[in-house]
Amino acid sequence: MDNLSCTMIIFGGTGDLTKRKLIPAIHQLEKGKYLPNKFKVIGVGRRDISQEEYNVMLYKGIKEYTNIETNQELWNKISKKIYYLKMDFTKSYEYEKIYEYLLEDNKKEEISSNLLFYLAVSPEYFGTIVNNLKKNNIIDENNHWNRMVIEKPFGKDFKSAKKLNKEITKVFKENQIFRIDHYLGKEMIQNITMLRFENSIFEPIWSNKYIENIQIIVSEKEGIGLRGEYYDNTGALKDMIQSHLLQILAITTMESPENFYIDSIRNSKAKLLEDLVLYTDDNNKEDIIFGQYEGYNDEEGVFEDSNRETYVAMKVFIDNERWKGVPIYLMTGKNLKEKLAQVSIEFKEPKNTIKTKKEINILKMDKKPKGNVLEIMIQPKEGIGLRINIKKPTVINEMEVAQMEYCKTCLNGLNTPDAYVKLLLDVIEGDSTRFTRWDELSYSWRFIDSINEEFIKTHKYKAKGLGPDKAYTMIKKDNRKWWFLDKWGKTNENI
Ligand code: BG6
Repeated sequence: MDNLSCTMIIFGGTGDLTKRKLIPAIHQLEKGKYLPNKFKVIGVGRRDISQEEYNVMLYKGIKEYTNIETNQELWNKISKKIYYLKMDFTKSYEYEKIYEYLLEDNKKEEISSNLLFYLAVSPEYFGTIVNNLKKNNIIDENNHWNRMVIEKPFGKDFKSAKKLNKEITKVFKENQIFRIDHYLGKEMIQNITMLRFENSIFEPIWSNKYIENIQIIVSEKEGIGLRGEYYDNTGALKDMIQSHLLQILAITTMESPENFYIDSIRNSKAKLLEDLVLYTDDNNKEDIIFGQYEGYNDEEGVFEDSNRETYVAMKVFIDNERWKGVPIYLMTGKNLKEKLAQVSIEFKEPKNTIKTKKEINILKMDKKPKGNVLEIMIQPKEGIGLRINIKKPTVINEMEVAQMEYCKTCLNGLNTPDAYVKLLLDVIEGDSTRFTRWDELSYSWRFIDSINEEFIKTHKYKAKGLGPDKAYTMIKKDNRKWWFLDKWGKTNENI
């Protein structure tokens, strides 16, 4: 048996994630010939449907939710690797069905005994599932590997995350646990490490000596959709900031890892997250803005008088030598003008600029050299942008800002692989670099827990708008602007 071949058991086999992300990812892996020799999927679900109905449902999902090019012939090949198993995963005796299936097929040598468990279900079931897997001898260590992938949210605060972790680690070791954060599989987020450490022009200036502020933005055009109940219990702070935005922050600002092996990068990220300055009751109100889009209370599954934030803008600091004094602004929200994710790194204004008196006269105040801005565009465009000051082609010394842009997706017209394709392959290969380790998670929860939500007022904002005015007042007060506004055809002044 080779070390990559495996059987993937998806709990939540008829759920949204399986249809929208997991099966499409498997489709792409098969298409690219990345799947191991022996690969089988067991989709576990409670629904009473036949194998054929299951296949049709999954194929429809690919067509409906993705823009993947597929055809019946390819799908027939893939669907042969997928088996639907009807069972109730909350009942221990039902696990015998998995056991027997694996035993039968193992005899026929059709499947590999390496097991990849994918928990695409609500976190309240994580403990039940892992305990039942152990109790029913599905997990053993005999000459094969067991890995488990879990989706967020991993807890709702530090205490619950710790409890959950304790339950899971009774059965799985840390190196068998893959806590997925799909942002870590996005092409440009993987690229941040490359950009920083493989270009000698960046690393020497990557500190408070040259960087004025950093902005990390993940805005969404969609509202909460059909996830009302989950969302109303969670909110933007825990749904997005605690996971995706803090991970982007850590990758952007971490110290150089000792090497690029699995634990080195995660050590650097964990250290950075540990160094985040915690909030106190004094700066809570000042530095965090909560917003809620108009109409949120009418969404399905949401309480009529819910104050739940669908938008967060906040200012964060890192307490280490490299970043002391550099504000990091985070912003995320639903139902905003555009879908956009980017990191903007604003450099300090140059010191020794205009030397002669004559030049000073010519250069008007608003033509002062601006700080350079490096933009890492994550989505929808993927690429790098840089603003630099250059001379205008006139006889006098006038300056203008040139916006340089390298857009990978625009250039190649490429559809970069969805994050799940890369991440699933990582799990098969046993590479957990792009997955969150427990200590990273615990530091990010400690940081989020330091925010006293009771102190923060939630401001309404217009659906498909720019977010609450207060977010602009906050940054204007600091004499700065949100760089993403340029993309939305707005300036701080016209808000
Ligand atoms: C998920 C959040 O983790 O990320 C969702 O739970 C959010 O609320 C989604 O919509 C955003 O992901 P993407 O890849 O569409 O930016």
